[in-house]
Amino acid sequence: MDAPASQHHDLAGRTILITGANAGIGYWCAERLAARGARVLLGCRSAERAQTAVDAILGRVPGAVLRVIPLDLGSLESIAGGAAAIDERLDAVICNAGVKTARPEARTADGLDLMMGTNFLGHFALVGQVEPLLADDGRVVAVGSLAHRFAQLDPARLSAPWRGSALRQYGRSKAALMAFAFELDRRWAGSARSAVCAHPGYAVDPLTAQREGLITTPGPVRALAALARPVVQGKDDGAAPVIHAATSADVVSGDYWGPGGLLEFRGAPKRVTASDEVRSARTGVPLWSAAEALTGTRFPT
Ligand SMILES: NC(=O)c1ccc[n+]([C@@H]2O[C@H](COP(=O)([O-])OP(=O)(O)OC[C@H]3O[C@@H](n4cnc5c(N)ncnc54)[C@H](OP(=O)(O)O)[C@@H]3O)[C@@H](O)[C@H]2O)c1
Repeated sequence: MDAPASQHHDLAGRTILITGANAGIGYWCAERLAARGARVLLGCRSAERAQTAVDAILGRVPGAVLRVIPLDLGSLESIAGGAAAIDERLDAVICNAGVKTARPEARTADGLDLMMGTNFLGHFALVGQVEPLLADDGRVVAVGSLAHRFAQLDPARLSAPWRGSALRQYGRSKAALMAFAFELDRRWAGSARSAVCAHPGYAVDPLTAQREGLITTPGPVRALAALARPVVQGKDDGAAPVIHAATSADVVSGDYWGPGGLLEFRGAPKRVTASDEVRSARTGVPLWSAAEALTGTRFPT
């Protein structure tokens, strides 16, 4: 169901950066957080698609405080430009943008594997560059996936050409993003900052509430898709665990949140279990060094 925009401004005064905020789960995070009074920075690679999202949010949340940050996570130059364009305190960064491709040869502007480069390395570089802007109690949320469980990470071969299943490589990229968040949690121990993971379950466009110019699934497709509703959910509902991870007081650093229903495909947010591999410092430490080398990013802390 399409929930009405919240009138409860519990996030007034908070600023939240969301990558990939012009579509899907990122859009719903942006609309819902704006409805709660947050100032939302939409990190998007297309000015046109970002404007469509801004218009859709303003249509639902008049007076929403929004700002578009030009940001292509597949380009280290664009990431540096996006980070430099932010000059305000950040209360949370939601690392949501994600790409899937079946083409092993697909590369970022810097020649990195497209999925690893965008989904993980781009976010590593971004968080490294905006870290000085993070509030003392700021939060980083990595949007992971159930697919992390089907992937094995080799930090020494992060951006190496891959063969076989594209889903497996996608899973590796999400596992890497999650392992980064858990490593960040360890590095921030003793501070009030938190680094957490969340996943949206199985969230599809045809079950998602309509938004002008953004989500306009034809009626017959929606009717057919409705049959799947007992098992999967719309991206509006898929955003719930991510929003919970970014804003709720019961979240602690190192948490992982996802949908609470069957197989974690749908349902209200609850704490879920990540693989031992992504939680382990044995993965996180070499992954961090590899990401530093591949992106030329050094974290200030
Ligand atoms: N949907 C699911 O069931 C599901 C399950 C598990 C995890 N996830 C994760 O949840 C996140 C959002 O998924 P979604 O289903 O909402 O996907 P989506 O509808 O395809 O939206 C992806 C968003 O990421 C942006 N993006 C892609 N590449 C980018 C780049 N190089 N620079 C900046 N932005 C970029 C897209 O922007 P453009 O419009 O410019 O392409 C779009 O805004 C992803 O990280 C995905 O891995 C989704």
